[in-house]
Amino acid sequence: MERVWINDIISKSGESVDLYGWVDNRRDHGKIVFIDLRDRSGVCQVVFGPWSEKEIYEKAQKLRNEWVVKISGIIKERPDNLINKNIDTGKFEIEAKSLEVLNESLTPPFEINSDGKNIGEEIRMKYRYLDIRRPRLSANLLLRHKVVKFIRDFLDKENFLEIETPILTKSTPEGARDYVVPSRLYPGKFFALPQSPQQYKQLLMVGGVEKYFQIARCFRDEDTRGDRQPEFTQLDLEMSFVKREDVMELNEKLLIDLVKACAPNKKIQQVPFPRLTYKESMEKYKTDRPDLREDKNDPNLLAFCWVIDFPFFEKVDKEGDSQAEASAKAWTFTHNPFSAPKDEFMNDLMEKKNIGNILTSQYDIALNGFEIGGGSIRNHKPEALKRVFEIMGFSEERIQNNFGHMIEALSFGAPPHGGIAWGMDRLVTLLSNEPNIREVIAFPKTGDARDLMMSAPSELEKKQLDELHLEIKKPKK
Ligand code: AMO
Repeated sequence: MERVWINDIISKSGESVDLYGWVDNRRDHGKIVFIDLRDRSGVCQVVFGPWSEKEIYEKAQKLRNEWVVKISGIIKERPDNLINKNIDTGKFEIEAKSLEVLNESLTPPFEINSDGKNIGEEIRMKYRYLDIRRPRLSANLLLRHKVVKFIRDFLDKENFLEIETPILTKSTPEGARDYVVPSRLYPGKFFALPQSPQQYKQLLMVGGVEKYFQIARCFRDEDTRGDRQPEFTQLDLEMSFVKREDVMELNEKLLIDLVKACAPNKKIQQVPFPRLTYKESMEKYKTDRPDLREDKNDPNLLAFCWVIDFPFFEKVDKEGDSQAEASAKAWTFTHNPFSAPKDEFMNDLMEKKNIGNILTSQYDIALNGFEIGGGSIRNHKPEALKRVFEIMGFSEERIQNNFGHMIEALSFGAPPHGGIAWGMDRLVTLLSNEPNIREVIAFPKTGDARDLMMSAPSELEKKQLDELHLEIKKPKK
């Protein structure tokens, strides 16, 4: 017989079915044994009683939570007074005819048939494969799947190509520290894991791809927080021959349609999304990712907004400066060095004047007080990109070493282009009303950036270190 998903039994009353799953709970009432059987789709009650053969009934008495079983039985409607309104299958139960134990389980370190919110995070992370059996977590993974599928289908219809870009790459200045990978073949040299596919997606535009997207894994060695992971996922996209409006319009439509399709219980407070300049946002809300919800207690309210017109550059302490010299400040980019200034500031950029007043074409998107995305129109002229690095005080040599390939690529007929990246984990977190992004990632890192399940990071054997030409300095006591 074909396997039937538990939640599908509601349309098969009276039929004989084969169900597979985990024992969620067992209740032994003397002559009758009840188990709640769980698979990915849901939970249903199975009853072993006088109609079951003695041997099967005795086996049912031995079942324990999280044992894996195959159960064949008949779907029966429950009398009205025994309907369980807490589960989707609550009008039915399975009268068991046979039981096969496919695997036993140790006693789990925590309960799985609860929402798990009271269980310590360390233990949940160590046994994450058990934690994600929990319906709350498996619902989050399902939502995430639906969101990604919706995005793929939407962008496919809009003629975008999904293209993978390298994970082993070169350090990029995205504002965070890089994770690096030592090269075995080139002693003393390192790859960096991408902080985002920024440069590759621009090179794809030079390559004539015109419309690119990727569900892209990004890596940033920064302190972990509720809305930040060292390894996270972006919806990354880039388009040629577009202006800021085109990118914003497409993304706004995608977000609105996505909410309707994947989180139909949510309502968007204002459409079109309000737009604030950075200045307005800072003056009114003291932040550049304002929470515009009119009712902050409404769990289903989504208040998107765009923030635009950020300053391009800001002053920071010069790299390597001693405290005493800290007054000698240098310019650095506020968001993305590859952004173009707004058209009216292009002359100032080219002439390197009024630097503090130059506004960038950057647009950020905030949702309920979180930054869920950001992007810009890029500098597609090589001289303009070079100017950005000059303003930041980079020597000609450093510009060539770090960005020579980008400047050269832009010199071969780069089309005007722009794009955006969304923080997928943050978006799904907000759609699922979870308190932090770890709840929507199958295998996240802990708050202190470790994988407790795999015990990573971990030491390497001497042989591996030797192959990689690495020697470990003893940490200072
Ligand atoms: P940015 O650095 O703003 O832009 O990143 C885009 C979005 O990614 C999310 N995000 C994160 N989510 C979880 N953990 C993190 N550590 C983390 N860091 C960022 C945020 C953010 O808005 N290349 C540009 C995009 C572009 O210009 O097209 C970029 O990466 O939601």
